[in-house]
Amino acid sequence: MDRHVEAGAGDKVAFHWVGEPGEDARDITYAQLQDEVCQAANALVELGVQTGDRVAIYLPMIPEAVVAMLACARLGAPHTVVFGGFSADALASRVEDCQAKVVITADGGYRRGAPSALKPAVDEARTKTDLIEKVLVVRRTGQDVAWDDNVDVWWDGAVGSASTEHACEFFDAEHPLYVMYTSGSTGTPKGILHTTGGYLVGAAYTHWGIFDLKPESDVYWCTADIGWVTGHSYMVYGPLANQATSVMYEGVPDSPHKGRWWEIIEKYKVSIFYTAPTAIRTFMKWGDDIPAQHDMSSLRLLGSVGEPINPEAYIWYRETIGGGRAPVVDTWWQTETGSIMISPLPGVTAAKPGSAMRAIPGIVADVVNDEGESVPDGSGGYLVIKEPWPSMLSTLWGDDQRFKDTYWSRWKGMYFAGDGAKKDIDGDVWVLGRVDDVMNVSGHRLSTTEIESALVSHPKVAEAAVVGATDEMTGQAVCAYVILREAAGDGGADIVTELRNHVAHEIGAIAKPRQIMIVPELPKTRSGKIMRRLLRDVAENREIGDVTTLTDDSVMKLIAQGAAASAED
Ligand code: WT7
Repeated sequence: MDRHVEAGAGDKVAFHWVGEPGEDARDITYAQLQDEVCQAANALVELGVQTGDRVAIYLPMIPEAVVAMLACARLGAPHTVVFGGFSADALASRVEDCQAKVVITADGGYRRGAPSALKPAVDEARTKTDLIEKVLVVRRTGQDVAWDDNVDVWWDGAVGSASTEHACEFFDAEHPLYVMYTSGSTGTPKGILHTTGGYLVGAAYTHWGIFDLKPESDVYWCTADIGWVTGHSYMVYGPLANQATSVMYEGVPDSPHKGRWWEIIEKYKVSIFYTAPTAIRTFMKWGDDIPAQHDMSSLRLLGSVGEPINPEAYIWYRETIGGGRAPVVDTWWQTETGSIMISPLPGVTAAKPGSAMRAIPGIVADVVNDEGESVPDGSGGYLVIKEPWPSMLSTLWGDDQRFKDTYWSRWKGMYFAGDGAKKDIDGDVWVLGRVDDVMNVSGHRLSTTEIESALVSHPKVAEAAVVGATDEMTGQAVCAYVILREAAGDGGADIVTELRNHVAHEIGAIAKPRQIMIVPELPKTRSGKIMRRLLRDVAENREIGDVTTLTDDSVMKLIAQGAAASAED
């Protein structure tokens, strides 16, 4: 920001911000953003934030979210943005893990045409952790909030009254920039640590190269929420480093009508658009006549991220949204990689519907077998990265050992991404999905074990097993098998609803199982491991695979019968 303002671009629009209600849309220039970031930095200093302190950000998609992130960066106080859809428990556990002392939140936000609350979740989180010293609250909806004078501070007052002068500090390239929590295959979410210099290089380089950005003429829109890494790299850090003009939208795609996104593209003449396959499939279902009502001739490039894009959705996206003119870049990367690793370069390399194609210049990716040997073209294996890259994660917050074990222990000198992939006969990469106990639901990463722990924390549950089953809309869906405690009897008529709500309360609504089956037993090997493969067969209505390693193969018959009965309900 300082660089761009100094170079004379202060009047350039950084964000066309669109609130869900619509009438409050506003443009924010680079100079205005700089002023507000300086004010927020001064306000945070007043609240006691010092270089190195962690700050949690729990906000809707409003400009203050960007301001808060940049204010933290300016002070060298690593931020951890917690998705607004996560529960109080999820917020508290992240605050605890990275020892954040300040939380920046809002009274609420607008979602599906109505205000939704956020501050109460922070209040609840404060009953679970005593680390939070100050809560800075943006007034967004004007709804009533509980107030603790010792802790709560209104953003309007503290930021609004602060000076717009703040000398930007300089830090080592390896100074921590942020911690982003993401689900792993075991236990609690992992705090992915990104540092300053390399991360910015990765975000800026890829945002410029893969999106073919022409900052003077493009209007760029990434629909990701700021609570995910895509919102960090491709809504905040990459575009702002490149002096881009972006759209930022607060709400859902179907409020007040199903053409909301296309209306925004038409209004702001968006030229580069970046979204997720799950959204594309939803729009496909809603029908071609909705996008057809809008002039989207400004679009010249489309991007996809978060999960494999099925060729049908890819072609629909290219033809119906891109009018057959705009190429699609299918971008593969992860929270850990910080920026895009595998993607076509528009106008430079070829693209195929369903393939992320090749590693971009500077990145060395490969597909290897169990021994870590590169597989020949036409075969499958595990996706790895073989050389370091600028925006690679530095470690897992507070857990170097887990960092080594998770990513670096499988094969010497190779980063193990956790994805299965194949190389086609041309040597182009097709990412197949996770090979660990991580599910991908609507492009969001969820851990089977984390949801299992949430279920088991319910007093009526004795044991639980969770699998990700293929789902036409969301890619994968959460399916849970639950054994109730004897004392719980049959759990009562509403047991499934009760358990689904319990998971939402423990983790967040996105983790709610699509299906919960109450079963008498779970299929286990002689060593006591749950055979998720068989449960996945049931959830996907397939014939059940090899059961010879089970202690008792009659268990599967019972489960399959139970599943058939619950499907009939
Ligand atoms: C996992 C990473 C990258 C930001 C959003 C998700 C899957 C991501 C693709 C793609 C196939 C993809 C992988 C990866 N994934 N992009 N273009 N094609 N799969 O970040 O939550 O860290 O998830 O998302 O399985 O490992 P994340």
